[in-house]
Amino acid sequence: MVVIAVDGPVGAGKSTAARLLAKRMGYAYLDTGATYRAIGWKAHAEGTGLNELNEEDLASLCTRTRIEIALAHDSQRIVVDGKDVTAEIRTPEMSRMASAVAGFASVRSYLVRMQRQMGINLEGQYGGVVVEGRDIGTVVFPDAPVKFYMDADITERGRRRWEELKGKGLEVDLHEITRGIMKRDEYDKGRSVDPLRKAPDAIVIDTTGLALEEVVERMLKQIPQGTR
Ligand code: DC
Repeated sequence: MVVIAVDGPVGAGKSTAARLLAKRMGYAYLDTGATYRAIGWKAHAEGTGLNELNEEDLASLCTRTRIEIALAHDSQRIVVDGKDVTAEIRTPEMSRMASAVAGFASVRSYLVRMQRQMGINLEGQYGGVVVEGRDIGTVVFPDAPVKFYMDADITERGRRRWEELKGKGLEVDLHEITRGIMKRDEYDKGRSVDPLRKAPDAIVIDTTGLALEEVVERMLKQIPQGTR
């Protein structure tokens, strides 16, 4: 099974690099963060606040939520219960909701199963898939033949996320965004279920100061010929 796992913290440059890598290899691209965002979005749409989330309600919410991901080689659209929420799930508020729901075991076990199934289907369809997330190399696809763990220093990660949100027309403050990322890091790395950590066999890529092309070139060099 040709799965390339790409994990790492917010703003490490995972999404753009994973998308371009998938395109270069002719593989599908799967962004698993979007599934946590979808569940966070639905909880919010039902009027549940960040502090009201609980295991039991989220378990039932998962089973009555239809998440569809429409994929192409280098992009994906996400549809929840028939509504296209691709843009809506990207706001800072939805980032906080996604990080919060991702701390619940019931959500994780439900979504991990869904992500495995999606990955397997895509691998069959495209011959391979680049899967991006926080626990891909450790939990979702621990047998992936190639695993990357991407990171960058916090100042650069904050600036990248700030530019990305500004580019989407959102009014955002750089310091607030950086503080938000640090908080999410702490939460993603500190949660008891499937925390963000580097798989022992993952290749670390520090993207600080690197252009996108350079990052993807480094990744391609690490992928054994037989995998392509
Ligand atoms: O990659 P992202 O920012 O869209 O992810 C949103 C949240 O989902 C993030 O705070 C952590 C969580 N997440 C996770 O716990 N496991 C994954 N495989 C992907 C995302």
